[in-house]
Amino acid sequence: MRRSPTFRAVGKETSLERSKIRILLLEAIHKSAVEQFTDAGYDNIDHVDRSLADDELARRLRGVHILGIRSRTEVTARALEHADKLIAVGCFGIGTDQVDLAAAEIRGIPVFNAPFSNTRSVAELVMAEVIALCRGLPERNAAAHEGRWLKAVAGATEVRGKTLGIVGYGRIGTQVGMLAEGLGMRVVYHDIEAKLALGNASPVGSLDELLGRADVVTLHVPETPRTFHMIGTEQLARMRKGAKLINAARGTVIDIDALVDALASKHLSGAAVDVFPEEPASNDQEFISPLRRFDNVILTPHIGGSTTEAQQNIGVEVAAKLVKYSDNGSTVTSVNFPEVTLPEHAGKHRILHIHRNQPGMLAQVNAVFSKARINIASQYLETSPRIGYAVIDIDAERPVSIAIRKELDAIDGTIRTRLLY
Ligand code: NAI
Repeated sequence: MRRSPTFRAVGKETSLERSKIRILLLEAIHKSAVEQFTDAGYDNIDHVDRSLADDELARRLRGVHILGIRSRTEVTARALEHADKLIAVGCFGIGTDQVDLAAAEIRGIPVFNAPFSNTRSVAELVMAEVIALCRGLPERNAAAHEGRWLKAVAGATEVRGKTLGIVGYGRIGTQVGMLAEGLGMRVVYHDIEAKLALGNASPVGSLDELLGRADVVTLHVPETPRTFHMIGTEQLARMRKGAKLINAARGTVIDIDALVDALASKHLSGAAVDVFPEEPASNDQEFISPLRRFDNVILTPHIGGSTTEAQQNIGVEVAAKLVKYSDNGSTVTSVNFPEVTLPEHAGKHRILHIHRNQPGMLAQVNAVFSKARINIASQYLETSPRIGYAVIDIDAERPVSIAIRKELDAIDGTIRTRLLY
């Protein structure tokens, strides 16, 4: 039986087997996650195909060490109160708003997600839309479905040689740029940070300059106060007549009423929108948008990152982070926790001490070891305004006794301790 991280030192040197670490996966998380866990020796997995309401979640969380959710399960402070053993939460997707992150943090529970797994999927959708808009596919497709035959050259162009303007040259923006260059497009971009150009892309001095140069503008910025309605009446007026606009970033980035006006006046010849200021909460609800009346607008239900590959990647990425945290204590990329990168700890015992961020904590932790005459081999500490995360490695010849664990737990301000053998 493989030995594993332990959460409770029962006796002198006892580890909890990985098979006793209970994992609850909700909302039909991709099987790639299950494989990732079982490959690492974690096979005590309860795999549920739906989300759980608060009461049921609270009940089911008792005794669970690791929780995996997608976007529909709300993890509230109340539910976390019932999570007596929980060490980590994995959000199998991008967003983490569904978890009360502060409540998790103060209980010593890091939350992980997968911010990069669907980058390529979004970029591919955007490129499909660039071509579709340049060929006037949306309106021709809509007409054909109604029995109208819109065979005409007017309004149909190749993308080769056209200029793509990318606003937000981050993970997705750069991928879009590379794909667009592969199709022979000229790529210009605007970002508030200095970004190294990939391929032959070139930065422009301002958003206004980009809007004035691009045949197609695509938005890849995050939702921030600065990006709220960053494309409004004024910016749309700066775009070239007949240009196209794509938004697969966040719904608040475009002023939708201004876009409606620009389409109605035919200043823009088309648009593709994947994200909206208000989106239906489920597939049963009607999608309401003033953009529905335009045949030359591609409307998609926030599916930029929704592909089989992205789901699979998300399963692997988040499960790997949870396994790493459980095995080794690393909190790198956690969204609510001090980030600590840790080496392997072969030949060492590792003690994780999560505490409220108050003066003198580390001194008190170290005092416990020096009193027991245990030499600390290495030590790591990171803090957030609310908590501190200290990791202490000691030589394996000196096992941590239950008495030491008790002393660490007794330090005022301790949230939890874990021992990894
Ligand atoms: P990222 O963080 O890698 O890149 C964003 C870039 O925008 C950064 O380079 C940043 O410096 C830049 N930026 C920030 N504020 C700006 C401003 N005011 N003007 C110009 N540039 C600005 O983010 P990533 O991963 O490329 O994601 C981009 C967007 O795509 C995000 O809003 C994300 O939520 C969205 N997204 C949408 C999906 C969908 O299903 N439609 C799926 C995945 C992401």
